[in-house]
Amino acid sequence: MQRIRVQVTGSAYDVRIGTDLLPTLGREAKAASRSPDAFLITDAHVADHYLGPAVQSLRAAGLAPMAVAVPPGEGAKTLAQAGDLYDRMLRAGLDRGGVVVGLGGGVVTDLAGFVAATYMRGVAWVAVSTSLLGQVDASVGGKTGVDHPECKNLIGAFHQPAAVLADVGTLATLPDEELRTGLAEVVKHAMIRDAALLERLEADAGALLARDPAVLEAVVARNVEIKAEVVSADEREGGLRRILNYGHTVGHAIESYAMEAGAALGGGPATHGRAVALGMVAEARIARRRGLLAEDAERRQRQVLARLGLPVTLNEPLDAERCLALARHDKKAEAGRLRFVLPEAVGRVVQADDVTDDEVRVALACLAER
Ligand SMILES: NC(=O)c1ccc[n+]([C@@H]2O[C@H](COP(=O)([O-])OP(=O)(O)OC[C@H]3O[C@@H](n4cnc5c(N)ncnc54)[C@H](O)[C@@H]3O)[C@@H](O)[C@H]2O)c1
Ligand SMILES: [Zn+2]
Repeated sequence: MQRIRVQVTGSAYDVRIGTDLLPTLGREAKAASRSPDAFLITDAHVADHYLGPAVQSLRAAGLAPMAVAVPPGEGAKTLAQAGDLYDRMLRAGLDRGGVVVGLGGGVVTDLAGFVAATYMRGVAWVAVSTSLLGQVDASVGGKTGVDHPECKNLIGAFHQPAAVLADVGTLATLPDEELRTGLAEVVKHAMIRDAALLERLEADAGALLARDPAVLEAVVARNVEIKAEVVSADEREGGLRRILNYGHTVGHAIESYAMEAGAALGGGPATHGRAVALGMVAEARIARRRGLLAEDAERRQRQVLARLGLPVTLNEPLDAERCLALARHDKKAEAGRLRFVLPEAVGRVVQADDVTDDEVRVALACLAER
């Protein structure tokens, strides 16, 4: 088991990464609460596998859990769903001293964290991340929230959990496509901050795909460390957090485009991870054409993405002009200006706000190359 301390805005919490951590949920939740009430939020997929042991652990710690399973998927991240949860929390008599537990992927922990942030102006919460994306990305930084029909993650709050459990044993049941989504963020973390992590991914791609628990534990722990370093440094070095957006300027545009057009991405479903992989390929190409990034580094990124089962080319037609328009509408684009994070080497990036539309067009065209 590895324990990583996340220090943010005057508070701190531990992320524990390992196998067989679910039985320790009761202890963590108990430590966070001042009453026996525990309100557990999960989704129907995760409930099938892990609700039983989670409830058992909460009970064993002397808590009286009430559990609700929301429908799986992004569709559950709504104010209406949050409203339904408030109703149930109130009916269950959850008071300010109680604790909320989010057991699931990023959707569930974002929703549970948001409900915990807002119910009675904030109650304690504990996250049990069961998806790779949840463990390496959503578990660190304290961002919680729900979607607006017109904009993802529009409504939210910062609310740090009291503790996070990342039980890599739970990844055994995660569907392949969801594992790949997490792996795209892992490659991103390596490219922005850690050349040694990229070497590890090159060496251990097979073991990761086979969900070897020891390799998963080491990789998740390093990713939590990287994200924690970046978000806590952001409070001092304004804007460092933006480097987490590598691959996402083009990636988000491709993702929105595929949703809108009902298109596939690289022969597979239009997931966030596949879009980010293609986004990183395109953004690395912009960096190489600017003479920032060596050809060998660009090739290594491409190879590692492909070995992890992520797309590096688009088999589908893409309307570059529509993609550019979507990128400009992204909430992270300031006054329609595209902000890029470009790699200078494996493990090192710079920020650029002077990338031209033509550079983006050429980079999008490179996605059609074989
Ligand atoms: N708060 C943050 O900083 C942050 C960062 C990144 C992403 N996010 C959010 O995270 C969400 C995406 O998270 P996600 O990819 O985990 O999606 P998700 O929570 O929808 O999980 C993906 C799918 O896998 C299933 N699943 C999860 N764990 C499982 C397991 N162990 N076994 C079997 N099935 C399992 C879920 O039921 C779901 O169907 C998005 O809403 C995104 O906005 C938040
Ligand atoms: Zn992402």
